[in-house]
Amino acid sequence: MATRKTTRKSVSSNRAAADAAGAPAIDIGLSDAQRRQIADGLSRFLADAYTLYLMTHNFHWNVTGPMFNTLHVMFETQYTEQWTALDEVAERIRALGFSAPGSYAQFARLSSIEEEGPLEDNTDWRGMVRRLTLGNEAVCRTARKVLKTADDAGDDPSVDLLTQRLQIHEKYAWMLRSLLQ
Ligand SMILES: [Fe+2]
Repeated sequence: MATRKTTRKSVSSNRAAADAAGAPAIDIGLSDAQRRQIADGLSRFLADAYTLYLMTHNFHWNVTGPMFNTLHVMFETQYTEQWTALDEVAERIRALGFSAPGSYAQFARLSSIEEEGPLEDNTDWRGMVRRLTLGNEAVCRTARKVLKTADDAGDDPSVDLLTQRLQIHEKYAWMLRSLLQ
C-alpha cells in the first residue's frame, strides 16, 4: 500500500515538473538532424513553388494574343491549386519544428527559379507557356531531391506530400508543353 502511494506521488510530481518546463522537446521518431535536413529541403521546395505560383498568377493577368481566354482560365486553375498547396508545405515545415520562409527576400534566396522581371512587351503567350513549362519542371526537380531525403529518413507524411506535388507539377508541365507542340 505504502509503495503504491509513493509511486503515485512520484508520477504526479514528474508530471508537475514536465508541465512547469513549458513545451516539451519534439520527439516524433526523427532525429533533430533529419528534421532539419527535411525542413531545409521543404523550404527550398516552398520557395520554388511560391515563385512558380507568382509567375502563373502574373501570366494570368498579363497574357495577350489569340490564346488569351484559354490561357487566362488555365493559369487561374493552376495558381489557385498551387496557392492551397503552399500552405500545406509551410505547415509541414512547422510540424517538423522549424520556421517556414515567408518573405520575398527569403524566397528569392532559396528558389532555384529566377523571378520574372517586368514583362513590358514580353507578353506573348508562347513565351509565357514555355517559361511556365520550365518552371514546373524546376519545381519537379527540387521535389524529387527533397522526396529522396524524406524517404531516406522514413518521413512518410513529407514523402506523401511531395509525391502529390510532383504528380501535379509533372502534369502541369505536360499540359503546358502540349500547347507548344
Ligand atoms: Fe483573375
